[in-house]
Amino acid sequence: MTVKNVLLQNFRNHQKTRFSFAPTTVIIGPNTVGKTNILEAFYILSFGKSFRAENDRDTIQEGKDFFRIEATIADETDTKTLTVIFAASAKYLSKKFLVNKVARRHIDFAAQFFTVLFTPQDIEIITDAPSLRRNYINSILYQAGKPYRQTLLTYEKCLRQRNRMLYDLKDGRKDYRASDFDYWDNILIENGNFLTKKREEFVNFVNSSKKDMFDFKVFYDKSIISTERLFKYHFQERLAGMTLVGPQRDDFVFLFQTKRNVAPNVTSKKVSEFGSRGEQRLTILQMKLLEIEYLRQTTNDKPILLLDDIFSELDDKNINKIFDYIYNQQTIITTTHREFVPKKILNKKEVEIIEL
Ligand SMILES: Nc1ncnc2c1ncn2[C@@H]1O[C@H](COP(=O)(O)OP(=O)(O)O)[C@@H](O)[C@H]1O
Ligand SMILES: [Mg+2]
Repeated sequence: MTVKNVLLQNFRNHQKTRFSFAPTTVIIGPNTVGKTNILEAFYILSFGKSFRAENDRDTIQEGKDFFRIEATIADETDTKTLTVIFAASAKYLSKKFLVNKVARRHIDFAAQFFTVLFTPQDIEIITDAPSLRRNYINSILYQAGKPYRQTLLTYEKCLRQRNRMLYDLKDGRKDYRASDFDYWDNILIENGNFLTKKREEFVNFVNSSKKDMFDFKVFYDKSIISTERLFKYHFQERLAGMTLVGPQRDDFVFLFQTKRNVAPNVTSKKVSEFGSRGEQRLTILQMKLLEIEYLRQTTNDKPILLLDDIFSELDDKNINKIFDYIYNQQTIITTTHREFVPKKILNKKEVEIIEL
């Protein structure tokens, strides 16, 4: 799959601009000129939401009440137009997704376009809260197949409902019997177990894959949801006013072998605690390369790689490794200075430079 061009209207600082893309495109321009905004637009085309806006409404240009992102996408057999429109009223933000101008539900729209994004902030996936790791793993599996998207939606909807019941119980606003939970529990168990299974499969894929950039393993610290576990935690859940077991409590721990002597007989340690900044960066970068491979295998298509400002963060050796790996992948790169871009990229046959 390749993206030929994109039109951004009222999106962040881009009022109405069309950009064209080659197999490799380098976007060069000073800070705050709107480079990351272009990558953000692609991310929204895949996920229907921003990776960095606290509120999706903020992606609409100040003073406007809607944005439109329209991209022309081609694969071997045909070309299609993907459109995303966010429109804001005083109260609501409405999101529209269209394929060849025909409205689709996001769950189906999401099957049209895949991306893998790498930004300097991604190191936080390794070092920060478990929710970032869950969101990250979710984003991969979300793109990898409709059953996961569907199951995740159902699970999250039920979880909100069940949490509301527990919250009302705690608050004394309502009185539910244990049996009132049965219906929701069954849906959560069935869908939760599917999410756990898919997450486990993905972790196994990562652990059994060759890693040229940096070697590590992922430990899947899972919170299984079952009748027994819900029964066991029921009292605590009533006190807490929320559901305490299930994939929403999962964590993924990155472990590596270190020669540094931390404690006797301990060889495997958390990258987040014992890894240097450089090792943490290589871990997430290696994950992104595996993510490309995983999406390639599960979707039979190549995701588009978005590399935001990576040259300032990585040394030449690792930059070269990335480009060895992604040679046949459509890639969009942003940078502040032309000098940062390796010669072998600039000298490629099919490269487009966009100067902002
Ligand atoms: N909703 C918005 N409306 C107008 N401009 C915006 C909006 N959101 C962000 N911007 C502007 O976008 C610019 C940042 O763009 P960004 O893509 O992050 O720059 P960079 O080229 O450094 O990656 C800032 O000047 C910011 O003011
Ligand atoms: Mg930027």
